[in-house]
Amino acid sequence: MLDRVNSCRDLKMSPAPWRLALARALHRSCANPTLVTFSWPPSAKTDAQPTAPLFFEDFGKTANCSKMVCDRRSAKVQQLQRCPWGEICWYFSETREQFRLAGEIALIAADCADPAQQQARQQMWQQLSDAARGQFAWPHPGQPRRESSVFPEEPPSVQAPLAVFCLLLFQPQSVDFLELRGEPQNRWRYDRNESGQWTEIALNP
Ligand SMILES: Cc1cc2nc3c(=O)[nH]c(=O)nc-3n(C[C@H](O)[C@H](O)[C@H](O)COP(=O)(O)O)c2cc1C
Repeated sequence: MLDRVNSCRDLKMSPAPWRLALARALHRSCANPTLVTFSWPPSAKTDAQPTAPLFFEDFGKTANCSKMVCDRRSAKVQQLQRCPWGEICWYFSETREQFRLAGEIALIAADCADPAQQQARQQMWQQLSDAARGQFAWPHPGQPRRESSVFPEEPPSVQAPLAVFCLLLFQPQSVDFLELRGEPQNRWRYDRNESGQWTEIALNP
């Protein structure tokens, strides 16, 4: 079901209004701008909010969705199957700006029937380095490490993704943008409506 979540529906649309501010902050950032901390809503089992640092690919020139990768066997996939929503939070210390992007995440796994999504999955696999591809051939993530655990030295083929390789497409639905500079500070909220248009409202910080 998760695989059928429409992804990148607004690929051809113009950039969302918050994109300019984010692009500027990414451009000025000295820290690794492609690393984000992703969090999921707490589950029935725990009140804690699960989080994971993930590398992500920028939103591109016009697409308002971004790409990440993960292993099908990792715990976060169960989180996603339980709830295909999450939040990215970024703080850029150089510009003193915080962006909180909440949105829908589509999991594109090996069994996804949509040819376009499979093609996107394959393209992402081919863009990875050998070292990054190699991690998907490692033993089950999060399981106890054993003497017998095999970590292959040869990277897997660049042509076809390994079965456990998943592409994640994150499509923000609301963005909370806080500018710490200024007295008072400035804060805006952007929401994406059903027709894919964004609304903007200034908030008290
Ligand atoms: C700098 C950094 C980048 C990471 N990038 C990814 C990534 O792109 N994809 C991924 O699945 N895990 C990535 N991880 C590992 C995850 O944060 C997490 O530890 C791992 O995927 C296990 O997650 P799980 O709790 O879902 O099993 C990264 C960790 C660090 C420290």
